[in-house]
Amino acid sequence: MKKLKLIYVSIEKMDKKQGEAVEKFRRVCFGNVPPKEIKEHSVAKNFGRVFVYLDDTIIGGASLFETSVNYCKIKIHLGGMGGVCVLPELRHKGIGSKIVRYALKILKEKDYDVAIHSVDLKDKIYGLYEKLGFKFLKQKVTFTDIHGNKIELDGVMLAPLKFKDIYENIINNDKTFHWGKGYW
Ligand SMILES: CC(C)(COP(=O)(O)OP(=O)(O)OC[C@H]1O[C@@H](n2cnc3c(N)ncnc32)[C@H](O)[C@@H]1OP(=O)(O)O)[C@@H](O)C(=O)NCCC(=O)NCCS
Repeated sequence: MKKLKLIYVSIEKMDKKQGEAVEKFRRVCFGNVPPKEIKEHSVAKNFGRVFVYLDDTIIGGASLFETSVNYCKIKIHLGGMGGVCVLPELRHKGIGSKIVRYALKILKEKDYDVAIHSVDLKDKIYGLYEKLGFKFLKQKVTFTDIHGNKIELDGVMLAPLKFKDIYENIINNDKTFHWGKGYW
């Protein structure tokens, strides 16, 4: 029987095969995202990656991001996953959920306060994230693009990590939440 394994790798330690897999995921899973959007909006810091191996083959993964924001006079360390991807022929077997669950575990270990994630509401993929503890922010959410323009963003979800109080403070608030420079 083939063996599934999930690993976390910091960006500096990625090997050639992992780099090639990231390129493949961009093509296969996110080929429909306009390059302008990637260049101007996806500018947050990507510190590591999760890879899923089926025996020796990489079949899925995600990027892990971080940033810090001030919200209601509290400094909050935001962590999160972006670019969650499973190769098409292996979808609907629970691998995407495993990636998100594993990414949340890594973010918790790294002491981020909350996990944040944006979804395309057209795809209805948010069901997967809701199942794993994410909830939609109801207040207005903004981010800044590379030109310094403040842009409003829909479909932003939040999940608690170690401490529930910071999560509760954001999720139950109606003040505009500013994500900072870029989003994921
Ligand atoms: C999203 C993705 C990672 C899910 O991977 P997966 O291994 O199929 O995920 P799981 O098997 O754990 O969960 C699938 C469940 O998630 C939900 N789901 C996943 N994709 C969905 C979609 N396009 N529309 C609606 N629900 C979806 C469903 O509840 C689905 O249940 P089902 O398998 O019984 O239909 C995969 O579809 C993918 O790589 N998509 C392209 C890239 C992408 O959109 N990434 C997410 C960015 S937010």
